[in-house]
Amino acid sequence: MNIIGLDALIFGVDDIPACRAFLCDYGLTPVGVDDDGGRFEALDGTAIIIRHADDPALPPAIGPAPSIRETVYGVTSAADLDAIGLELSRDRTVTWDAKGAVHSVDDSGFAIAFQVTVRRDFSAAADLTNSPGSESQRPVNQVGISPDMPAVPRTLSHVVYFVPDAVKAEAFYAERLGFRTTDRFVGVGPFMRPAGSDDHHCLFMIQTPPHMQGCEHFTFHLGSGTEVLLAGRRFEQNGWTSFWGPGRHLFGSNWFWYFNSPLGCHIEYDADMDRHDDAWSSRQAPLSADNSQLFLFTSREKWAPTGSPPEKRGEPG
Ligand SMILES: [Fe+2]
Repeated sequence: MNIIGLDALIFGVDDIPACRAFLCDYGLTPVGVDDDGGRFEALDGTAIIIRHADDPALPPAIGPAPSIRETVYGVTSAADLDAIGLELSRDRTVTWDAKGAVHSVDDSGFAIAFQVTVRRDFSAAADLTNSPGSESQRPVNQVGISPDMPAVPRTLSHVVYFVPDAVKAEAFYAERLGFRTTDRFVGVGPFMRPAGSDDHHCLFMIQTPPHMQGCEHFTFHLGSGTEVLLAGRRFEQNGWTSFWGPGRHLFGSNWFWYFNSPLGCHIEYDADMDRHDDAWSSRQAPLSADNSQLFLFTSREKWAPTGSPPEKRGEPG
């Protein structure tokens, strides 16, 4: 079906100005945003879209506002939309909008849509590393970092759902939409990628009691672990609160830093995710702190080695 990943996530929110400030500080670019919401785009055109929670054009909400209202996947061609529409119409309502996108629901009740992808080619510098024992990536005399180093979302990476039945939810994406399970937390849920993407996952599902169903978090890829640290640091300095991180996950190998948001879920910065194809054998492990990350840091105020750290001098940290 050539599903290549997430194109957009649509949220119904109750505080458009707060969400606008949050998504702009996160690093997304507002496109056509007004008092009723709009798009916030990464470098490749993938986006978060916000609307008033009571906008009648939105699919029904699963829980109280603010909440995710639709997950939009990009596909390669209109023929893929025909195939998906035909498959899903076997047992559920499928609608086609004026732009040719296909809308339906998954087996957990999340609204899903498919469109010919809006992803556009873009160019952004890689974060080059000098690693003794391997050929240096960075040319001599080229510095690695600077205070104005860009650290912006490049492409929409993944969404995480709380689901009431992870086995049923996984079966829908695997059997009806051709997703592959790359790894799994036993008794919790699968990391999945669509067949048209080699990213470790664009969808992770976590089994929870039914009343918790909803979006747990979403994230965009940045260019490197350094960019995750830099973007997260700037985000914190804008007053947004860290929830988990920075650190590096084991499954997927991606760097992470999670923040609280006014969208009804957490938001993450991620970078340097593993890529897989069908030769990969999925791993499984129990969910635990050790299996959730290789390491975890806590952000600190800046400091210089001219004396003891501030708290050791009895000053506020
Ligand atoms: Fe994540």
